[in-house]
Amino acid sequence: EDAEAMRPRPAVVTVMGHVDHGKTRLLDAVRNSNVTEGEAGGITQHIGAYQVYVDHEGEERGLTFIDTPGHEAFTAMRARGAKVTDIAVLVVAADDGVMPQTVEALNHAKAAGVPIVVAVNKIDKEGASPDKIRGQLTEYDLVPEEYGGETMFVDVSARQHQNIEQLLEAVLLTADAALELEANPEKEARGVAIEAHLDKGRGAVATVLVQSGTLRVGDNMVAGNGFGRVRAMFDENGQAVEEAEPSRPVQVLGLSTVPRAGDSFLVTTEDRTARQIAEKREAAERNANLAKRRKRISLENFD
Ligand code: GTP
Ligand code: NA
Ligand code: MG
Repeated sequence: EDAEAMRPRPAVVTVMGHVDHGKTRLLDAVRNSNVTEGEAGGITQHIGAYQVYVDHEGEERGLTFIDTPGHEAFTAMRARGAKVTDIAVLVVAADDGVMPQTVEALNHAKAAGVPIVVAVNKIDKEGASPDKIRGQLTEYDLVPEEYGGETMFVDVSARQHQNIEQLLEAVLLTADAALELEANPEKEARGVAIEAHLDKGRGAVATVLVQSGTLRVGDNMVAGNGFGRVRAMFDENGQAVEEAEPSRPVQVLGLSTVPRAGDSFLVTTEDRTARQIAEKREAAERNANLAKRRKRISLENFD
């Protein structure tokens, strides 16, 4: 990588934790939005991605947040979230304590080698016990700074918008202490699809996270087995954008088929190349499936 071309980029921060501990509401508080209210059954079922700008020591700093579901069924999404992130914010409800998906989430973060900031949420509730959470997490090697450890804990109330700035501050301090947040924006974009679906009117819609380079409308891209020219891009508020720099999540229209969440994407100079790569990926996948089927059949013959 060309060291001269490297530029600072926003940290990617994945919010993880047990179901209903307040991850989405916390992001609503950070963004002044209201995603929580629109969710069916109050359960997050998709990964959401949002970029915000915060003031930090007189400097404007970007942060990209990825919201993950806490329901036990969505292990794969949590694992994926942990893989694309720089930092994990572990949300633990102070009235409920460490629960199975709290432990699962912190294990994903540890496996991915990303630093963890703990948000002890719902401190407005009766029966909230932030100290108990600190004690519980110490048993999982997340030792609070105030106990002589290295993990920043921030007590928050997403509902009452309490200590949100302190949490953002802790995230930025952890990022600056632990990470080299740089990427080269001056080249063809690469990154990962974090969510994708087929829309009746618009065709394949993919939310991608740009990890290096700059993605532009008109670019030829491959994402999973899909390829095509980027027809339009939208930010998380539905605003059309012309380009997306490193760490920016963006919705992309124009792919031939829907990529899978977790698939990597890249931009090619020639549209032919994008199609060839996509076709190669598809053929490789077909062969792998065929081999699997053959193996299954030969195993069945032994029964
Ligand atoms: P999943 O994505 O489904 O795992 O849930 P989540 O962790 O995103 O939790 P969500 O934001 O949906 O909040 C769950 C419930 O807790 C909602 O009813 C919120 O209004 C409530 N809640 C979240 N934060 C707070 C808080 O700080 N205080 C109180 N009292 N309630 C909160
Ligand atoms: Na919820
Ligand atoms: Mg949620």
